[in-house]
Amino acid sequence: MNNNLSVTVLGSSPADTDQLEALLPLLSDEERSRQSTMRLASDRWNFALAHCLLRKELSRWHPSIAPQSWIFERTKTGKPVISAHQQTGIGPLDINITHTDGLVACAITNCGQVGIDAERWSRDIAIDRLARDVLTHRERTLIAKLPKDRQKAAFISHWTLKEASLKATGIGLNVELPSLDCHFANSEQPFSGVANIKGLPLPGETSGTDRENTGGQIMHLELFERADHALALAHLGQQAPVSPSLSECRLSDLLAH
Ligand SMILES: CC(C)(COP(=O)(O)OP(=O)(O)OC[C@H]1O[C@@H](n2cnc3c(N)ncnc32)[C@H](O)[C@@H]1OP(=O)(O)O)[C@@H](O)C(=O)NCCC(=O)NCCS
Repeated sequence: MNNNLSVTVLGSSPADTDQLEALLPLLSDEERSRQSTMRLASDRWNFALAHCLLRKELSRWHPSIAPQSWIFERTKTGKPVISAHQQTGIGPLDINITHTDGLVACAITNCGQVGIDAERWSRDIAIDRLARDVLTHRERTLIAKLPKDRQKAAFISHWTLKEASLKATGIGLNVELPSLDCHFANSEQPFSGVANIKGLPLPGETSGTDRENTGGQIMHLELFERADHALALAHLGQQAPVSPSLSECRLSDLLAH
């Protein structure tokens, strides 16, 4: 099989109880149990959508495995992965999901590791308060020079890319976001498109190096600007990054199972 990376997005509108009931059978007992304890109906709905989307997409990669039959486990640092037992049969696949207000997405690759993160552009964010928790000094200076009405989008672009890169490595909450410095490749369009990141630790390390590449692996970062959301994708692998195939899934497709 060629090196592939697929990203699938699904716009989520407010939950409909019947539709939610229709999706629940696709989830595992553990997923249903986590979902049922969520306080907000919107969180329960987005959780179900994201996990069902991932299951459906995995079955498009491997049609011999039904959406409800995928088994997941977590790495030591908490990244959800396909069970080792299942990967023995189908070969290595790495996965990641994101769910946010109005959008869920999943990414799947058969080469390297993948991370994905989405955020609504209109999210109410106190940049002044959050900047030091998320950005380097260089990034804060850069963003402060922008017109006020572009600062929030620039902040969200950096934030989602950093989260996606951490999700690709699986390091999760063990790294401080201001230790990562994000550089966009296209200076004409500074806060979208391809980017790279400095200070990213190797999986298993807790502090960063000043390398753009980690342990001979190449980190490819890309920010997709959607109408309402920033969608950040990170791919970490030994080989040159594969071009992601980005597709949309409709709720009706997801419900047709
Ligand atoms: C835990 C974390 C990965 C979740 O990301 P998020 O933006 O809150 O939420 P998203 O919807 O994008 O992603 C959630 C999914 O990520 C996946 N995930 C959880 N831990 C993960 C890890 N260690 N690595 C990769 N993916 C992980 C899960 O599938 C989760 O979905 P689930 O809970 O429904 O199973 C992320 O918050 C994180 O680790 N951040 C580290 C950086 C940080 O300090 N952030 C705070 C800045 S103010």
